[in-house]
Amino acid sequence: SDSPTAMVRILPDDLTQRRPGCPFDPAPGLERRRNGGQVQPLPLLNGAEAFLVTGFDAARAVLADPRFSSDRFRHRDATHLRPDEVAELAASSRQAEPAQTQPRTDGMFIFMDPPEHTRLRRLLTGQFTVKRMKELEPRLTQIAVERIEAMRSKGTEADLVPEYTLPVPSLMICELLGVDYADREEFQHNTAVGLNLNSSGEERAKASGALYAFIQRLVADKQRHPADDLLSGLIHDADPPLTDGQLVDMTLVLLGAGHETTANMLGLGTLALLEHPEQLAALRADPSLIDNTVEELLRYLSIVQLGVTRVAKEPVTVDGVDIPAGATVVIATPEVNRDPRFFPEPDRFDLRRSRSPHLAFGHGVHQCLGQQLARIEMRIGFQELITRLPSLRLATPAEHVPLRNDMLIFGVHALPVTWS
Ligand code: HEM
Repeated sequence: SDSPTAMVRILPDDLTQRRPGCPFDPAPGLERRRNGGQVQPLPLLNGAEAFLVTGFDAARAVLADPRFSSDRFRHRDATHLRPDEVAELAASSRQAEPAQTQPRTDGMFIFMDPPEHTRLRRLLTGQFTVKRMKELEPRLTQIAVERIEAMRSKGTEADLVPEYTLPVPSLMICELLGVDYADREEFQHNTAVGLNLNSSGEERAKASGALYAFIQRLVADKQRHPADDLLSGLIHDADPPLTDGQLVDMTLVLLGAGHETTANMLGLGTLALLEHPEQLAALRADPSLIDNTVEELLRYLSIVQLGVTRVAKEPVTVDGVDIPAGATVVIATPEVNRDPRFFPEPDRFDLRRSRSPHLAFGHGVHQCLGQQLARIEMRIGFQELITRLPSLRLATPAEHVPLRNDMLIFGVHALPVTWS
């Protein structure tokens, strides 16, 4: 597979696996700033050179600096090898040149640099404005309410992940893009294989192939039968027109980024609220706290644990540390968002905290394109859940909730709840 997530295979476990009983706190390996500098060497399992950024200033500096590239393929070093390449490298004791592979990245703008990135991203920004998202609110509310009523009609307990936290954002991104939600098996499962840290190269290749073929069929279908959706708009409005490869890639980025992320914020966020009953009570008592709650949950949970990485195109010094050309820099978002100089008492979940400048959506030219959509999904998703199910509580001890320690994006695999 050419999945960039393959790099995680060579990251030590303590960077992705949170402590048992502490599902909201950064994985122990990310906490090194507390004893050292903002930028620290990151020993990778294959011996390659990388750096971990755990301080807020340094993270912002890296993400605003054009000397750091998002193009992990063109500028990648040994930290971005596919698992089979890693095995090859490990087999030879010398630092051999990796086999040159040419992954297909026509329209994967999340892995591109300006000016190519700028052109593709600009085609989408008009679809994700605050105003455009406001227009989606009634439909989003309807989706959330329908899912809650469906759960209620079946009894007084449910697993919130398949019944609520995954379908709400999935349905929304499907409608926006023009994907038939009935086909969700095709993209939900294959996306999850790509994000699973334990997937083999073969499993990844199979899943990404299936996903690519699925989107290819969708693009071909929209080319013949345009509708009132984002994908049809991209096909007909881009000037010069996008290639088929670009259309497929851009749809893949949006579909993937558009459901796994918010789904896990809703799942882990609900667990966090249930585990902080005094905070939940405050939110119930004053619904105007919801926007603040969403921002605090984004900061406190930081579910995109290691997804924001860059490669140095030339030697760069950050916070006094020399980073050589070709080295990978991993932004430790969960730890960055607990920098005590920016967030007093950073380990405390406090939904009254004044609006925090967290980096949960990244920073710079790649800052999350879907952040306004994510915000309304969380605002409506949490609000409807807690008001329509006022007696909501866990149906299992919190320590039995299965955590996504095996996934690139953190969260819960299941969330058994009950209500009366
Ligand atoms: C980029 C987080 C929801 C679409 C990003 C990045 C982060 C992020 C950290 C920056 C990656 C980088 O710099 O390398 C999140 C979180 C979400 C969320 C925490 C949920 C709470 C969404 C949604 C969409 C979306 C709902 C819907 C389309 C994108 C896209 C990019 C992106 C397209 C790439 C932007 C670019 O490269 O210019 N997201 N995201 N995200 N996100 Fe989100």
